[in-house]
Amino acid sequence: MSQLRLAIIASHGGSNMQAILDAAKLGRLNAVPAVVISNNSDSLSLARARSEGIPACHFSSRTHSEPDDLDVAILQALNVHGVEVVVLAGYMKKLGLKTLRHFSGRVLNIHPALLPKYGGPGMYGRHVHEAVLSAGEKVTGVTIHLVEAEYDSGPIVAQCEVPVHADDTPESLAERVLQREHEFYVETLRKISEGKIILPGLIGKQQ
Ligand code: GRF
Repeated sequence: MSQLRLAIIASHGGSNMQAILDAAKLGRLNAVPAVVISNNSDSLSLARARSEGIPACHFSSRTHSEPDDLDVAILQALNVHGVEVVVLAGYMKKLGLKTLRHFSGRVLNIHPALLPKYGGPGMYGRHVHEAVLSAGEKVTGVTIHLVEAEYDSGPIVAQCEVPVHADDTPESLAERVLQREHEFYVETLRKISEGKIILPGLIGKQQ
């Protein structure tokens, strides 16, 4: 199967993005990072993309004050770079409906818990891990899901469990889950690139 052309969209440092770029570079993932997009012009994700010669685009309400124009700009960039799968990696904004429709069934997000538990509005960052600990869960995990218009709502593509330790703080749990995210995003993308996981939006679209 040919190399999967990925867009990575991240708001901040993008440690998941870094893990995916490293895996692609080292040949552990048969994928090409075709473009990196961020809503944050100062983000480490754009800096890293530029330093590696990967096309890097800043699109936000500062570059496009109309949400519809922003949506179209993102969609155009994805198309110009021949993107097959869109990978959200800590993107703190919503994608527009035109982009979601065009890439329906091939936009992935990663969430630091076992959805449908601990997802939805307000469930991001340490809030997720605080809620997991308050509920007395013994196990949490990582979910990779397809993105639909509502937060954390699309069909689940893959999940893995991460143990919760009795003495965990939100920080220690967040760290353990994040480490697992890095491996699990790469593993899941590898399975997609090998056709072992079939994304509904990718059928008949691989170059
Ligand atoms: C991760 O915990 C991910 O699950 C969530 O946002 C965080 C992004 O972390 N969607 P990073 O920017 O990849 O380090």
